[in-house]
Formats: sequence, C-alpha cells, structure tokens
Amino acid sequence: MSRVERLHIAPSLLSADFGHLTQAAQEAAEGGADWLHFDVMDGRFVPNITMGPAAVRALRPASQAFFDVHLMIVEPERYVETFVQAGADGVTVQVEACLHLQRTLTQIRRLGAKAGVALNPATPPEMVEYVLDDLDLILVMTVNPGFGGQEFLPGMLAKIAKVRDMVARVAHPIHIEVDGGIAAETAGAVTRAGANVLVAGTAVFQHPQGVAAGIRALQRAAHGEE
Ligand code: DX5
Ligand code: ZN
Repeated sequence: MSRVERLHIAPSLLSADFGHLTQAAQEAAEGGADWLHFDVMDGRFVPNITMGPAAVRALRPASQAFFDVHLMIVEPERYVETFVQAGADGVTVQVEACLHLQRTLTQIRRLGAKAGVALNPATPPEMVEYVLDDLDLILVMTVNPGFGGQEFLPGMLAKIAKVRDMVARVAHPIHIEVDGGIAAETAGAVTRAGANVLVAGTAVFQHPQGVAAGIRALQRAAHGEE
C-alpha cells in the first residue's frame, strides 16, 4: 500500500444512464462511494466523445463526493480552470497529452484542486519521476483509454507496484488510482499491488444487483474478503 492507506471507490459515470446522471451520483454516494469519476473525452486524444464541464457543474449541487475529473483530451491546460470552476476537486491529465506537465500540475494546484497524472498502459512510470513533488495522484490506466467495459491488462500490476515504490520515497501523500476493467475479480490484485483508489464503471453501474451491491463487492474484494 502507498502511504495513502484509505480505500476509495470512484464510480465512473461513463457507464451510468446519461439521462439520469443525478440519480446515478446519488446512488453511488448512498452505496458508499466517496469519490465520483468523470471521464472527459474529446474525440482527439481518444476516439470517443463524452462529457464536459457542464456535467460537472450540473452534478455539483447534488453530491458531496470528491469530484475526480479525468481529462482524456489534448491540450488539457486550456480547460483545467473551467473544470475546477465547475466543481472538480481533482483534475487528472494524461501525461502523453502534456508538453509542459510540471506547469500544468502547478496550474491545477494553484486553482485549489488536487493534481493528478494518468499513464497509458505503454507509458513508463518514470515519466512522472521528476514531478512527484507537484502531484497528488497517479492514475495507472489498466486499459487503453477511450471506452468502458474493456478487459483489465494484468501487465499493469507490475507498474502499480513500481509506482508504489516511487511514491514511498516522497514526503507527501500521493493517491495511486487504477482505471479500466476493475471488478470484484481484479480489485484484490490491484490493491495488493498498491492502488488505493479504484475507478469502476461497468462493475458499479451495470451490476445486476444494483449500484450499492456493485460498490460493496468491490470493497470486499479490495480488502481481500473474497
Ligand atoms: C476508460 C475510462 C474509464 C472507464 C472504466 O477510458 O477512463 O474510467 O469508464 O470503465 P470500466 O470500469 O467499465 O472498465
Ligand atoms: Zn477514467
């Protein structure tokens, strides 16, 4: 485990019913998720187009959760301020989309939000080694970004462990988040490798027994209970 020991489940709205996002956010909170994950896609960094700051703004009054905004967009620095003003508590940028990563992370923190960096599956953890002082979260993508419902890439477990060893050397707490293919079958392995924030879309919003059951199953698996 990283020194941020507490487990957070971050349901991804991407797999929720877009006609009832407020209800989805409320069900996630009632089910015990204290984070909510927004997957922002621009049709350029990834092929898909999803939601923008208006969705964050619309849900803000309906939720006390930590709004975890994952920008899968090119030139994310152009939109960071808008997302924080809309209600983002944390903004995560893809390292592959940032020409001046340290500057963008500083920009996010100056706006009062937590700064995160996401790494695509092929991106080595060393990409963030020299900006650890400037970030609050490292997101290890466990699928290639763009779509929900993809299969977990087991090769990412070694990367999570490497990130855990890197963050253990810095003085401030850094969350290790995983995103993609996280379900009861994979939650235990990622937590053992060092992750403490589990993003899950399908496993929460498409769970046959409902949102709360999906969150509970993830929590139990993450704690090694099944
Ligand atoms: C992938 C997104 C994920 C995705 C996860 O590009 O960043 O957040 O919604 O979905 P599941 O949990 O279904 O793999
Ligand atoms: Zn995401």
